[in-house]
Amino acid sequence: MIKLACSTGRSQIGFLFVVAALWVNLSAATADSASPGHSVAARERMLMDFGWRFAFGNANDPARDFDPANNFFSYFAKAGNGAGAAAPDFDDRGWRPLNVPHDWAVEAAFDGRGSPSHGFKAVGRKFPERSVGWYRKSFTIPESDLGRHVTIQFDGVFRDSQVWINGFYLGREPSGYTSFNYDLTDYLNYGGENVIAVRVDASLEEGWFYEGAGIYRHVWLTKTAPLHVAQWGTFVSSELKGESAEVTARTTVNNDSTNSAVFDCVQTIENADGQPVASGQAPGLSLKPGATMEFRCILTVAKPTLWSIETPCLYKLVTTLVKDGVLVDRYETPFGIRTLRWDAIEGFFLNGKRVELKGTCNHQDHAGVGVAVPDELNVYRLEQLKKMGSNAIRTSHNPPTPELLDACDRLGMLVMDENRLMGTTPEVYSQLERFMRRDRNHPCVIIWSLGNEEWNIEGNPKGTRIAATMQAHARELDPTRRFTAAISGGWGEGTSVSIDVMGFNYYSHGDNDKYHGQFPNKPSVATEDASTFSTRGIYVEDLEHQHLTAYDTNRPDWGLLAEDSWSHYAARPFVAGLFQWTGFDYRGEETPFGWPAISSQFGILDTCGFPKDNFYYYQAWWSDRPVLHLLPHWNWPGMEGRDIDVWCHGNCEEVELFLNGQSQGRKKMKQNSHLEWKVKYAPGVLLARGYKNGQEILTDKVETTGDPSAIQLTPHTSTIKADGEDVSVIAVQVNDEKGRFVPTGSNEIRFQIAGPGRIIGVGNGDPSSHEPDQYLPKVSSLPLTHWRMKTVDSLTNRPEVEFAYDDSGWRSAFGGGRYRGDTASAQPTVYRAIFESPESTRHPRLTLVLRKFADENSVYINGQPLTLTNPPGGVDLELSLSEDLLRPGRNVLAVLASAPASRENRNGGGQEANPAIIRVTEPAPQWKRSLFSGLAQVIVQSTGDPGEITLTAEAQGVSEGVLKLQAQPPAKGNAY
Ligand code: GAL
Repeated sequence: MIKLACSTGRSQIGFLFVVAALWVNLSAATADSASPGHSVAARERMLMDFGWRFAFGNANDPARDFDPANNFFSYFAKAGNGAGAAAPDFDDRGWRPLNVPHDWAVEAAFDGRGSPSHGFKAVGRKFPERSVGWYRKSFTIPESDLGRHVTIQFDGVFRDSQVWINGFYLGREPSGYTSFNYDLTDYLNYGGENVIAVRVDASLEEGWFYEGAGIYRHVWLTKTAPLHVAQWGTFVSSELKGESAEVTARTTVNNDSTNSAVFDCVQTIENADGQPVASGQAPGLSLKPGATMEFRCILTVAKPTLWSIETPCLYKLVTTLVKDGVLVDRYETPFGIRTLRWDAIEGFFLNGKRVELKGTCNHQDHAGVGVAVPDELNVYRLEQLKKMGSNAIRTSHNPPTPELLDACDRLGMLVMDENRLMGTTPEVYSQLERFMRRDRNHPCVIIWSLGNEEWNIEGNPKGTRIAATMQAHARELDPTRRFTAAISGGWGEGTSVSIDVMGFNYYSHGDNDKYHGQFPNKPSVATEDASTFSTRGIYVEDLEHQHLTAYDTNRPDWGLLAEDSWSHYAARPFVAGLFQWTGFDYRGEETPFGWPAISSQFGILDTCGFPKDNFYYYQAWWSDRPVLHLLPHWNWPGMEGRDIDVWCHGNCEEVELFLNGQSQGRKKMKQNSHLEWKVKYAPGVLLARGYKNGQEILTDKVETTGDPSAIQLTPHTSTIKADGEDVSVIAVQVNDEKGRFVPTGSNEIRFQIAGPGRIIGVGNGDPSSHEPDQYLPKVSSLPLTHWRMKTVDSLTNRPEVEFAYDDSGWRSAFGGGRYRGDTASAQPTVYRAIFESPESTRHPRLTLVLRKFADENSVYINGQPLTLTNPPGGVDLELSLSEDLLRPGRNVLAVLASAPASRENRNGGGQEANPAIIRVTEPAPQWKRSLFSGLAQVIVQSTGDPGEITLTAEAQGVSEGVLKLQAQPPAKGNAY
């Protein structure tokens, strides 16, 4: 490790001189030395989310997994030997076009044979035909990139992925949660097309909760100079010294060139306005070819604005590398300056102030989209939690998507960042290291969790050993934060002995006070508690529909009611706070029901992020705002004169309840509690008046409504970026004639969208709804079989193109997986093949997709000529087949070629053995969703173009809802 000589920033004049002088020199040098073919362009990071093609392989049947059945070599035999779908020239035009993030599990139907962990979606080992997915993407790399270093990064693929570039096998990543990357530099075609192929095998599960399937997080392509800051190559930490912050910037630099490099490293800290506030430089550093080294620099920021929940102020470390006077890399690291302290007696301190952690545990899926959560949807989810007064999340039970942490940094949400599996093997360490290197600059991350409920070790000496070894290893990667593990038993033994910060999972599992007495010097936090379950908007248990009530009355054996859980920990300041299971309902873990329920009901909010009533319990006692919330709703026809339980959540000192103006009694609210009345039902208005110091400060009412009369659409934002990724999350509700929300509404709502927007998912939070989450066009392919060929003298007036022509005596063509050119002659040739018309009522669009056989081709279907519209010169043809050309059942394709097909297919096999297929595209059915307890959700995404999006929602017997959204041109971004 080399310690740099750095300017401290204390001398403002000195520091400004350094920055200014260097900048002038560098700008000039960069411009002068740019020469064609050898770009010195700084680092580029480009989104690779767009323009992929997808098809299912097969977990059990290699022939249906695009395996090169007749190929002598397997994928792994030789470098660049990727065959079948891994081959660069594989024809994937019959595959479905899509963008990632993508989750094919959420697209699947519900099926009782499915895994309860995955919410009974038809994926996993019992569905081999839906458990392996292949993705392919073509992209161009300009010739000017030759000499640059190019890597691809996947932030999350569920799971067990293998990747090829241009047929070269790059590697395998078993984890469904850890970011990984491959160096493409040596394998790329510079100035040409490149193909990346990814095989994803979701047959096995890692967790016991919904995990999705596919490339479900972003993909990035990064281009740098050979001398560059390494992947996740910076680590910024800070210490407050008097009125200043001493910032330590550790930077790992790679020299991926074949020559030694001598260079300068300049570190600049910019404040939130982009103004430099400290800078330092280390001249004359050197790295041997292929070498990697970490350099350390200490900078001082005078009077820093600290990152906190209330003011999440971010700084940016800008690292530049300068070689031979040329700026070769510029790497930005957002970070925050703040202090953390975990105290065994007083809990957790942020910037010296005690903060009670009011947290939730969350899995990553959301209604409609599964785990393919757009960045803005994560922001929406965090904002919902913040509204509740929550200040922390635990990323149970796996590393999150990096964009979630970016949002937490910006919004001031504290994070317990959780590793997937505990262990000390190279595989576990590799995942742990990538996870920690990636996340350790985020100020929001206040603690690492090494694992959750490791039942086989948590109460025994193996747990003590594994936690100690793993923690020591992890501390090398981050000495600035503490470590916990979520422990569900054996408190006082096992993992709980060696872990830094004790993590209590459910106070029902042990005795917090006893543990505290036993380990008085060990800080602690309730890593998980509650598991209270409830169904949004339901107040009468309905077991037939797997609906529980939304009063705070339901829990499993090990769980706690919200009120008991919070009251327990609020009374124990030595525990730093708690993380409730869970913020949101998630798919899987259908406790206490199982099939046909499809999602959990532990959430304080449902899968759409709509609050259940306990949301207001937490809001009352976690937030600073005055809260008064009445439940249930007041639509109980047939219940006249019968007792109804009325609850009130809130933080007023006293509440008086009125039914139709008649007082039902005034009651005092106990700290951390709620109020209850029994009220004889009569339709009308139930009103609560909340008092503080004897003064009325708040009211809340529920009213008996009329029938649904109109649809209302409410977006979480009405302006989105026209970047093909951004979303608006839209609440759909029905109101009665007086405009009052109808809480029992269950209308089926149908959606239409116009303009540059698309619907990507619908939901309603019903834990047992089997309605589809998505309505997609279906893309499949029809094989052409029985290929036969015959050479002829001329191509004019050939009777062989006719449907009924007898070709039984012809030679077969394209058999055996290779078509090397069946003859060396250049004689005109007729080819025939057959295909079956698809059976579908959805009027599919058929496209004939074929490789060009020779310079001149003409194509016939059942004797009718097709018009070739492709520009000349290419190797591929695409022809649309109109319905009137087709016969029911068998159809005949005939190709007249000026010479026999001579294109050599080196890789052979799979679909590639066939020179043509028919792509079948069935249009998407209309999007729709039923309301559940009055609400549904629709998520609208930008298609990439700017303009006005119109979403129309209609249902029988009610007036339609129309919503306009604006897709605004995005800030200039980089995407492939
Ligand atoms: C915990 C576990 C969670 C979830 C929860 C349900 O024991 O850590 O992942 O299963 O139970 O109550």
